[in-house]
Amino acid sequence: MCGIVGAIAQRNIVPILLEGLQRLEYRGYDSAGLVVVSEGQLTRMRSTGRVAELSNISADIQGTIGIAHTRWATHGVPSERNAHPHMSRDLIAVVHNGIIENYEAIRTRLVAGGYEFASDTDTEVIAHLIHSHYVNGKTLLGATQAALTELVGAYAIGVIASDNPDQLICARRGSPLLMGIGIGENFFASDVSALLPVTNKVVYLEDGDVVEMGRQSYRIRDAAGEIVARPVQFSEISNESVQLGNYRHYMQKEIHEQPRAIADTLESVSNSHSIVPGIFGAEAAACFADIDSILILACGTSYHAGLVARYWLEEIAGIQCTVEIASEYRYRTSVANPRALVVVLSQSGETADTQAALSHAKSLGHVHTLAICNVPESALVRQSKLRFLTRAGPEIGVASTKAFTTQLVALFLLTLVLAKLRGRLTAEVEQLHLHSLRHLPAATQKVLDLEPQIAKLAEQFACKRHALFLGRGLHYPIALEGALKLKEISYIHAEAYPAGELKHGPLALVDKDMPVISVAPNDMLLEKLKSNLHEVRARGGELYVFADAGTHIREEEGVHIMQMPEHAGFLSPILHTIPLQLLAYYVALQKGTDVDKPRNLAKSVTVE
Ligand code: G6P
Repeated sequence: MCGIVGAIAQRNIVPILLEGLQRLEYRGYDSAGLVVVSEGQLTRMRSTGRVAELSNISADIQGTIGIAHTRWATHGVPSERNAHPHMSRDLIAVVHNGIIENYEAIRTRLVAGGYEFASDTDTEVIAHLIHSHYVNGKTLLGATQAALTELVGAYAIGVIASDNPDQLICARRGSPLLMGIGIGENFFASDVSALLPVTNKVVYLEDGDVVEMGRQSYRIRDAAGEIVARPVQFSEISNESVQLGNYRHYMQKEIHEQPRAIADTLESVSNSHSIVPGIFGAEAAACFADIDSILILACGTSYHAGLVARYWLEEIAGIQCTVEIASEYRYRTSVANPRALVVVLSQSGETADTQAALSHAKSLGHVHTLAICNVPESALVRQSKLRFLTRAGPEIGVASTKAFTTQLVALFLLTLVLAKLRGRLTAEVEQLHLHSLRHLPAATQKVLDLEPQIAKLAEQFACKRHALFLGRGLHYPIALEGALKLKEISYIHAEAYPAGELKHGPLALVDKDMPVISVAPNDMLLEKLKSNLHEVRARGGELYVFADAGTHIREEEGVHIMQMPEHAGFLSPILHTIPLQLLAYYVALQKGTDVDKPRNLAKSVTVE
């Protein structure tokens, strides 16, 4: 979950590397570094902290070939000596995203062979391994290929040599990597957004690919060493879509993009009179006809989307659904039902635990797989039989917002398709659902209009150390997501409970210093929820209630009401998420935290 970028050109590439790193910073941001070849030497700059600091110290460096890295520490603390690029005897330099599982054994062997290690990272073994093959007469390509055969784990790497200013090597296995093609210049990066200022002509590399790049040409070899042609694509992501524009933070921008993101995700159905399995892929109809249950696997915010879907799938489609945290499922001895549809949910499509969970499911005999994902060509999309791409656009803020609501839209569509196939959706009810979906972008916009009130409310939270979120039914996962958002970006300890569970423990925590945030839709559980809220008030707890129109919960001392629009039925969780995202955002602003890059976290967790 680091970001890498490399360039070979006829101009100075340092500004290109720095801009690329800035755009990849969401992937890791505890240290950064770059190296260029100039006058037969490797010139390296590294710093802890943000890319901006690296930029400050790199002003005087120039080169026409170089590689760069922004880090999220796995092996070794964030420090200058652990920052990439790592070098071997001033000859080889390497940047790496991923994790080398057998690095200790390789390191011991290399140390015995006389190599000195300057860092605590797993990556440094790659530099020395390539060096050992290079000085024994292999080409830079041959040395890299030889080194890669010895590595166990996941990697995307970039390699340069001080005595070879005309060749840049990159390779991937398990971690994302793509090439950018320019005129008389070529590039690589972890994510297309890093290359958009210089090119939108890209080649997504496959697992096992190794690329030799010159200024005028490039050659891709597959895992077997054969030269292969990979399709050249023109990225549709616009440079503007990854710019901050007039917003203060990406998170704020992405919260506000939700009406558009939801509308785009609904494009396949918004102009249609009915909803068809084909939106999940050509083989979906056959696959859906053969399934008798759903198994959802995901991490973090995506897991919460899965939890909401369980209520929809069981109630509307009448299909049994289990939702599991991917990092648990991958190591659990479970009983596989080959007739289950395995749904992997992921914004990035590259979360290591979700990928491993999907592989584990397949190894247990699961054959029906569907990826709901925001990144085309990502690992999870490629590894699943069926796919649905959410159209949230690039999500840069570490705390996921628009990816979550668009995942919910996709899961609701899945629910409707399955309900229809199972004879549980009349044409009339289908039209009602389609109508509500078409109205959803406008309804989302209406909730966003609460922003000034929520910004005001947030002032009361800045001094709090703990918070409790309550929800019931469909909205319990929304309470979980609200608590996660607050934790992630404001560092306030927050817990979420199904409100009915309060009296079995968490009520003991409630006092005047404990804000209790409640999601109160006007649904069949409202009266139950109101009783739970009385339990809180009776213990002196301060209540903040996000209540639909018509809930008749009265504002009084200790009870603060945020008035939501009218109840949106099954789609209500999507709307109730938005004020909680805004609350977390404004509390974080009050506390002065780094909203888009909260401490210790990263956007794409590509390591275990
Ligand atoms: C990280 C991110 C979360 C995200 C989770 C799962 O922890 O910080 O925002 O929900 O990974 O990521 P995915 O890309 O699989 O949805």
